[in-house]
Amino acid sequence: MHSIWLYLICVVFSIGESQPQYSYSQKYERKLQNYHQCTNKYKELTKVYEARNLEFGFPSEFERQTALLSGRYQPDIPLPIDVDVYYLPNRYRPEIFLTIPRFGRGVPYSLATLTDVVRPNGPELQPFPSYDWHSTHGGDCNGLTSVYRIQVDSCGNMWILDSGEIEFVQYCAPQILVLDIARSTVLHRYRLPLGIYKPKISRFVTPYVDIADPAPWGSCQKAFVYMADPTGNGFVVYDVSNRRSWRIENKYTYPDPDFGTHTIAGESFELMDGTFSFAATPHSLGIRRMLYFHSLSNDAQIAIPLHIVNNQSYWSLNDPSSGLEHFILLGKRGVQCGIEAMTAQGVLLCGHLAPIGIFGWNISTPYTFHNRALLAENPETLQFVSGLKVRRNLWGQDEVWIVSNRLQRSFGGNLNFNETNYRILKCGVVDLLIGRPC
Ligand SMILES: *[C@@H]1O[C@H](CO)[C@@H](O)[C@H](O)[C@H]1NC(C)=O
Ligand SMILES: *[C@@H]1O[C@H](CO)[C@@H](O)[C@H](O)[C@H]1NC(C)=O
Ligand SMILES: *[C@@H]1O[C@H](CO)[C@@H](O)[C@H](O)[C@H]1NC(C)=O
Repeated sequence: MHSIWLYLICVVFSIGESQPQYSYSQKYERKLQNYHQCTNKYKELTKVYEARNLEFGFPSEFERQTALLSGRYQPDIPLPIDVDVYYLPNRYRPEIFLTIPRFGRGVPYSLATLTDVVRPNGPELQPFPSYDWHSTHGGDCNGLTSVYRIQVDSCGNMWILDSGEIEFVQYCAPQILVLDIARSTVLHRYRLPLGIYKPKISRFVTPYVDIADPAPWGSCQKAFVYMADPTGNGFVVYDVSNRRSWRIENKYTYPDPDFGTHTIAGESFELMDGTFSFAATPHSLGIRRMLYFHSLSNDAQIAIPLHIVNNQSYWSLNDPSSGLEHFILLGKRGVQCGIEAMTAQGVLLCGHLAPIGIFGWNISTPYTFHNRALLAENPETLQFVSGLKVRRNLWGQDEVWIVSNRLQRSFGGNLNFNETNYRILKCGVVDLLIGRPC
């Protein structure tokens, strides 16, 4: 009986919401009230990993001491920002990868796997593919210099975007590297040419790989990779089959000064970041496919047809008007959201800064306040959603994988290492979409 009344209140609240005279924050307050009345608690996602600080494993105690003495390992500096998983056939648990970019010095390696070894601050990491790939800190351009985000494909390959710089010193050209995860062999490597990236300005943080020939029938070689360059205010498209890339930079790829202040859980920092994150229309929907993207310091959500963005003839370098008429401003959300991911059902997920949670928008509907549903709110565990992936497990179920990292505290230099700062969480996509416990 009680629950029926709550349900009715929820329905009345939802109807009341459609009045247009509310301001953005009033609307959110009402939406939140409504939400809490209906659920009365925050969303608990399945905990996979929790750490007060990152615990780096080294090949030997000697290597650890050497790294500590030279300042190449400063334990309180490294910050994890992305996660991805690889399900080995016949293995119940996936292999879990974390990226730890070299914003500055003090990060011993920037791509790691999670182990079962428990250390005082959390589980121990091990370098991937091996320590040698990272240990020159920019000295070996065949290795990895700084990895921000990765993507694991259905063929068991990892697509790695290496920014090539540490603190904007460009040690190597940015590169996209494809590794066979099980064998740790290089399948493909492409170094961005000058002009496509801007030394001292560019910082490539997010790859999004759209694969035309996925497993089980294909071999994941016919692909386009979109690479976000938020500090260079643009993005790069890489046509893998033809080994060609082009840069896109115009008013849609820029930040908006009105969204340069980011406030997470009451703490603010300034950041003027352009294009940050992408997602594409699922093949299964059978509709015209689009590339969705947005800037981190902007509330505008943008789309462009894939056949346009993938056709080099539309894009000339340093011409902010080329291809411009093909961009679609879908709408403005009134707040920043970080990384985005697409579900097979065509729901675009994004981690919003306020309220702190994952929102879902059905891409077949207008990008309006009403059509953006708060799927998981948790101000404790979801500040700040820095990595977000949808991956299919061995049983054919899609899962959402999340890494959160309290970015605002890290930027302010006031992380408290007595509390949990870094988390990897997951939830079944269907559970998330219909509001079931994870
Ligand atoms: C790319 O676009 C041009 C027109 O701008 C068109 O002539 C060409 O066929 C397109 N290429 C592909 C591969 O679709
Ligand atoms: C998205 O919206 C379309 C059009 O209203 C609808 O047919 C479809 O079922 C919706 N998808 C989901 C996952 O709700
Ligand atoms: C962390 O815990 C230690 C030992 O209990 C304590 O001395 C220290 O003040 C704590 N730091 C913070 C920031 O709470």
